[in-house]
Amino acid sequence: MLQAERLESGYGNSKVLFGLDLEIGAHSVVSLLGRNGMGKTTTVKTLMGMLPVQGGSLRFDGQEIGGLRPHRIARLGLGLVPEGRRIFGSLSVLENLVATSRNERKGLWNLERVFGLFPRLRERRAQSARTLSGGEQQMLAIGRALLTNPRLLILDEATEGLAPVIRHEIWACLNQLKDEGQTILLIDKNLKEMQHLVDRHYMIEKGRVMWHGSSQELLAQPELVDRYLGV
Ligand SMILES: Nc1ncnc2c1ncn2[C@@H]1O[C@H](COP(=O)(O)OP(=O)(O)OP(=O)(O)O)[C@@H](O)[C@H]1O
Ligand SMILES: [Mg+2]
Repeated sequence: MLQAERLESGYGNSKVLFGLDLEIGAHSVVSLLGRNGMGKTTTVKTLMGMLPVQGGSLRFDGQEIGGLRPHRIARLGLGLVPEGRRIFGSLSVLENLVATSRNERKGLWNLERVFGLFPRLRERRAQSARTLSGGEQQMLAIGRALLTNPRLLILDEATEGLAPVIRHEIWACLNQLKDEGQTILLIDKNLKEMQHLVDRHYMIEKGRVMWHGSSQELLAQPELVDRYLGV
């Protein structure tokens, strides 16, 4: 579904991605792993068209998408739950959800289904988003991304800072989405909790892929975790 080849990107003159190769097959769950500052969020921003492709190629369904504006890329079917949630605090839960539905692609996801997945959002639909708990804000960010009916759902640290019980709710939601065939790119630091969900991990360091493989292969090589994720 998505292929990055020798992808280069960064912020002005400061390059962050130095030839990153990444492939996400339809209906698969792929992770990006790596220590702080290694280029995970930069990769996501480049996929979404928020940063320019400076080299290499980026294809979605075989179509080159490097250089397309973010709204065009979103319309092709890339949906992002951004790092730090980025919900509209002054708007209500419901207003946050429908703010994106203008761009709604045809598909399974509508308000009813999002409320079915996260009943707490239904209960709190009139509440202003800034008064939601961290976990509820995260559910809102996920619900908002789902309402765009993304073909590729990207989650950048969606469980960051959440209590274990809320994290488990999010993992349960992602497992359900995977069972339904949703293609997912996942960035998360909870390796243990994500390993059942992920088909293929990409370990990145300084804007390059150093290793990729299955959860099983990763578990069999604990030195990889030490080398690329250890502090
Ligand atoms: N707006 C920016 N301008 C300049 N440099 C930036 C900007 N945002 C990030 N960087 C730099 O790009 C590099 C990669 O950052 P990035 O946010 O992609 O890391 P990350 O892998 O997502 O890390 P984390 O796990 O902490 O979220 C870092 O060295 C960071 O300082
Ligand atoms: Mg990041």
